[in-house]
Parts: sequence; C-alpha cells; structure tokens
Amino acid sequence: MSVMEQISSKDAIALEEKYGAQNYHPLPVVLSRGEGVFVWDVEGKKYYDFLSAYSAVNQGHCHPYIINALKEQAEKLTLTSRAFYNDMLGKYEKFICEYFDFDRVLPMNTGAEAVETAMKLARKWGYEVKGIHSNQAKIVVCQNNFHGRTISIISASNDPVATENFGPFTPGIISIRYNDLRALAEVLEDSNIAAFMVEPIQGEAGVYVPDEDYIRKAYELCRQNNVLFIADEVQTGVARTGRLLASCGSCDCEDKLCSGDPEVKPDILILGKALSGGVFPVSAVLANNNIMKVIRPGNHGSTFGGNPIACAVAIAALEVVRDENLAENADYLGKLFRSEMSKLIEVSPLVKLVRGKGLLNAIVINDTEDSSTAWDICMALKENGLLAKPTHGNIIRFAPPLVMNEDQLLDCVAIITKTIKDFENK
Ligand SMILES: Cc1ncc(COP(=O)(O)O)c(C=O)c1O
Repeated sequence: MSVMEQISSKDAIALEEKYGAQNYHPLPVVLSRGEGVFVWDVEGKKYYDFLSAYSAVNQGHCHPYIINALKEQAEKLTLTSRAFYNDMLGKYEKFICEYFDFDRVLPMNTGAEAVETAMKLARKWGYEVKGIHSNQAKIVVCQNNFHGRTISIISASNDPVATENFGPFTPGIISIRYNDLRALAEVLEDSNIAAFMVEPIQGEAGVYVPDEDYIRKAYELCRQNNVLFIADEVQTGVARTGRLLASCGSCDCEDKLCSGDPEVKPDILILGKALSGGVFPVSAVLANNNIMKVIRPGNHGSTFGGNPIACAVAIAALEVVRDENLAENADYLGKLFRSEMSKLIEVSPLVKLVRGKGLLNAIVINDTEDSSTAWDICMALKENGLLAKPTHGNIIRFAPPLVMNEDQLLDCVAIITKTIKDFENK
C-alpha cells in the first residue's frame, strides 16, 4: 500500500486496531484534513473541531502563517542538536522570554518532557539554592492532576488507570487536595518542600476551575515558605482561558496578554501544546536567572529540544496569538458559550452544569460516571458535525480553536442543543 493511497475510515481504523498499541480509545472518525475550526474525514464529511487536539490547535488547523514558517525553515535547516549553535534558537529564546516576561527558557518537545524538566529544575534549586539536604527534596502536587505520562509524572497521579502496574514510583512527591489552601499551608511547613506544581484549571480531570483567589493565595503561601510555584500551563496557556496565561487570571490586570502580573508570577512556567499551534511538538520551561542558573552543561537536554523548525514554528504561533487577539476572542466567546449552555441546562434534565474559563469548558452529564451517556452524546454530536470527547465518564470537554467567530460558535451551540434534545427524546 502506498502512503499516498486514500483509504476508507473503516480500513484506517482496522489498521490502527491491528498494528497500534491500544493506549487510546478514539471516537470512530478518521480525519484527513483541517482548516481553521474545521476538520474533514476521509469520506469528505466536515466537522467543527471542538477539542483542538486537547487545546494544542488554539490557532486553528493548518494556520497559513505558521505552516509557512514551518515550510520555510524545513527547507533551510531542520536539526543541529545542541552540540552546535543554530541561527534560530537564540532568536526564539529572546522572543519567548520577552513575550512571557522571563529571563530564560529551556526548550523541550512534549508537555511531559517540560513537566519533567520543571521537576528536575525545582529539585536542583532546592538543593543548591534553598539548602535542602541531599535527596530529601519534595514536590507538592494536587490530587486529580494531569501532568503527563512518564514514570516520575505518574508518580504524582492518583488515577488508577494511569498508574496501575507501572510501579515502583518516584519518591519525593506529596499529593494534596486541589483548591485547598489549608492543606497547602500545612504541607508547606515541611522545610524539604522545593516546589508546588499546579494546573491553574485542572483540564484533564474535567475542567475544574478553582476558587477565584486560589492561585493567588497558593502563590503567596509558596512565597512565604520559600517554595517554588510551578504553573503547568500546558493546557491552559497560550490564550486558551481568555488570557495569555491562566495563572495570572486572579489579578485585575487590564492587559490580556500580560504574564507579569505583580501579584502572581509563576517561578517556573511550563508550556507546550499550543506553543506551536499544534503544528510541531514544542514545549518550554521558563524561569528567571535565580532558578535557571542551577542548570549547567550536561545536566539536562534533548536532541530535538530547541531545533530550528520548532523555533520558527513557535515564534509564528505566538505571533498569531498576539496579532489575532486570540485571548480576547477566547474570553468573549467563552462567556457567550457558557451563557448559552446555561440556557440549555435550564430546560434539559440531561445536562447538570457547565464550567470553564475562556474556551476551555465542560458540561457535566446528569448520569453516573460509569455510564456511557457522555460517549453516546459525543457519537451523536459527531453525526451532527461536531467533534468532542468525554473525559472521566460523564463530562464532555468543549475546547474549540480560538480562531472561531461568533456565528460559528452559535452554530455549534445549535448543534449541541439539538443533539442533547434529540437524545432526551430517545
Ligand atoms: C496540564 C498538562 N500538563 C502536561 C500534559 C502533557 O503533555 P503531552 O501530552 O504533550 O506530553 C498535558 C496533556 O494533556 C496537560 O494537560
């Protein structure tokens, strides 16, 4: 079979089922093309993408400006490794540091790698700057987190599906309840804590938005206890929640693109996914000199981290976010979406609640977590031309590309409303 040969959805699924490790449970739709907020399956049916590859495609599918940067760089230089300098990395480093207002960046590829990097950085800072005794450093995380899939990261997870039979796990991780400042204050009394790592909104867990002041107060507690505040913004970052970063969402700052909120500024910021607009695996860890200086040659790295294509793509992707006002659009459309969903909830016994910020939202289906209702609704949404995916049983996450316009959003609301109503009448 030639790779260019067009195959049917049925055949594509059969191939994955026969030859792929079965580590995902996708909705049965086979996509072959994307543009903006739309994707098409191999039979030519058009859908609204209401997941954006788990918030990676914030800038919309195949954004021409980003694709052009990819193509131009791919024809010039793709990879040097960090054994040598290349003419793109420094430019990118300057660009991203100024964009997010940090002194330095450590470039990686996937979100999980960036989380691992942040954990290593925090431990090393704990020993070399804070003065924690050798091998005693601890990192505090929150229950129901999702930070990725490596052994150390799942050591921080309490999800049995993600952890069962993958032990032994990495020590030095303490898990506390999310959105619980008292639990954080208590745990921070331990002087061996190097860092607190948190998602400003727990995305994978089902879009749990903490109390309005949680992030700011958690940040203050970290300050008071000389503990690093690590914001994992792999999913929430890059305009998804209506601001460039969700961890500065607790301030009254006027500038939607601000990351340097005087009240909340993560000591370590983790970005991935939409940093490339979903075009290429690009992730980053940002920190100021007092933290990043603990990393010396040979301590950490990645063959592909900071490669010229990644640099060109990430600069273009961040330019699009700024030039197309995607944070503002996400903020505006998010409010509209939640208000429309609230209207649906008033009349529908099937939907319990809507929650979220910007265009990272979820509805909770009025059924048990082990029911197939949310999955069945997603199947019906697919039939009606909208792709979304359930998370944790009865929750459906709604996260369209941020380049969506108001008419398209209202069209999607109509599809969701009709689908839910049809479903009730079944
Ligand atoms: C908050 C958060 N951190 C880290 C990751 C891991 O990113 P990746 O899948 O690119 O490794 C994810 C992925 O969903 C995430 O949502």
